[in-house]
Amino acid sequence: MESNRRDFLKLTGIGSLGLAGASLLSSCSDQKDAQSNLNHIEEQAAKQYTPQFNMHGYSAPAIDVVRIGAIGLGGRGSGNMRRLAQIDGVEIRALCDLEPDNTEAAAESVRHFDFEPELYSGHEDEWKKLCEQDDLDLIIIGTPWHLHAPQAIYAMEQGKHVAVEVPIAVTVEECWQLVETSERTRKHCMMMSNPNYGDFNMMTLGMARDGYLGDIIHGEGAYIHDLMRSHNFTHRYHNMWRLKENATRDGNLYPTHGLGSLCQAMDINNGDQMDYLVSVSSNDFMMGKTAVELAAEDPAFEQFVGAKFRGNLNTSIIKTKKGRTIMLQHDVTSPRPGVRFDLLSGTEGIVQNRPPRFSRSYGGWVSDSEFADLREKYTPEISKRVGDIARQIGGHGGIDTLMSWRLVDCLRNGIPLDMSVYDGVLWSVIAPLSEWSVANNGRPINVPDFTGGNWQTNGRLMDIELEHGGNTGIKPV
Ligand SMILES: NC(=O)c1ccc[n+]([C@@H]2O[C@H](COP(=O)([O-])OP(=O)(O)OC[C@H]3O[C@@H](n4cnc5c(N)ncnc54)[C@H](O)[C@@H]3O)[C@@H](O)[C@H]2O)c1
Repeated sequence: MESNRRDFLKLTGIGSLGLAGASLLSSCSDQKDAQSNLNHIEEQAAKQYTPQFNMHGYSAPAIDVVRIGAIGLGGRGSGNMRRLAQIDGVEIRALCDLEPDNTEAAAESVRHFDFEPELYSGHEDEWKKLCEQDDLDLIIIGTPWHLHAPQAIYAMEQGKHVAVEVPIAVTVEECWQLVETSERTRKHCMMMSNPNYGDFNMMTLGMARDGYLGDIIHGEGAYIHDLMRSHNFTHRYHNMWRLKENATRDGNLYPTHGLGSLCQAMDINNGDQMDYLVSVSSNDFMMGKTAVELAAEDPAFEQFVGAKFRGNLNTSIIKTKKGRTIMLQHDVTSPRPGVRFDLLSGTEGIVQNRPPRFSRSYGGWVSDSEFADLREKYTPEISKRVGDIARQIGGHGGIDTLMSWRLVDCLRNGIPLDMSVYDGVLWSVIAPLSEWSVANNGRPINVPDFTGGNWQTNGRLMDIELEHGGNTGIKPV
């Protein structure tokens, strides 16, 4: 068992994560030690911070042609490159993946668009050379979670803007480091939160901003996606990194998909702020058994036998400083339909996804035709202008393309990005905070204020009506 633990540390890089990963490994044998090893999370969460500069709403100098490098070209990163290659004013100049085959495959897909990027591969630190390449403006990071923050920090230190896959960081310490580095270098550090560009999410944001729901009281979001046999217990991910996360940490490991658009609709980071969180996990009823079953057929799964897997369903509740609540759930194992669920409840009505519907009374949901009128009214300009092309190019039904297009468009126009570094870290920090609360029988933990109080005066981001910019072209294949 001891060598299994060492394998986890070595193979996932969790040993370099800081205390969070390591403490959960020790929790395999001693729950009490695990709790005390997580104490640093509570300390980091209580930190008071004076910002050096406010990156919320920051406009970097306009960049006419955005020269892009990418690190991590697996399932997600390679798709990001194909989509970005179709946006005007983009040059794909550098690509890096640990695996030469992945690097070459991504290069081949962008050669189709006449780009001839520098390639970096074959060693786990090659990505540093990409960050050091002089002729890059933006680095896209699509590696396993534990590499996100170190790579983003290094890239910003080299003078590059960064856009990072979800979650942007895995520890509270890393969240603080990202904020500090972004403020000091004045480089954008955006988490690529694609669900914020979903039709339903943007419609809900429009309704909330218009006051159609009244005062928002409560939101609910979830990442409920049965990935067990199709993804996590397979060889699909590099070095089984995702299964290793699930075998060493217990909490809401993937909070950002449910949370991002709720926060924007509730003006979190610009008008309200998270205050504290409580979190409880069920036990694991499935993953431990599956590991035993698969290990009998495939030795690669032997390292997971006896691991202390994450509880199957985690529920976390956040209270905001203005007295509103958010409920978040995470479950990537139980067999049930659905990927995400979103709900926003206000003093004048409630809107809910899956299926999309709206109600303003106890009497029931409004009719389909009334809902269609609401959809029409609250379909934002960004969808009208590029929604059809984005759907053709694709990526979760087009939302990935919309997000990439808007990122490039903002950089080219020198206008604020739709999501700031404070959004990325706040939506990601729920994972380590929930780990602490789960390990402490659901006790409350403070949510750090990464804005250092600026949430009280910050304005809104996420310009779905394209009041600024919106003039970048995009071409389907
Ligand atoms: N927003 C979304 O909808 C969405 C969907 C899928 C994945 N993701 C995120 O994208 C990220 C990647 O997920 P994935 O499914 O592509 O995983 P993956 O395992 O398919 O890809 C990760 C890639 O990183 C590479 N890599 C590992 N270590 C490296 C190093 N030191 N230097 C360079 N490259 C290295 C691997 O070789 C692999 O190609 C994760 O953060 C995940 O959460 C987001």
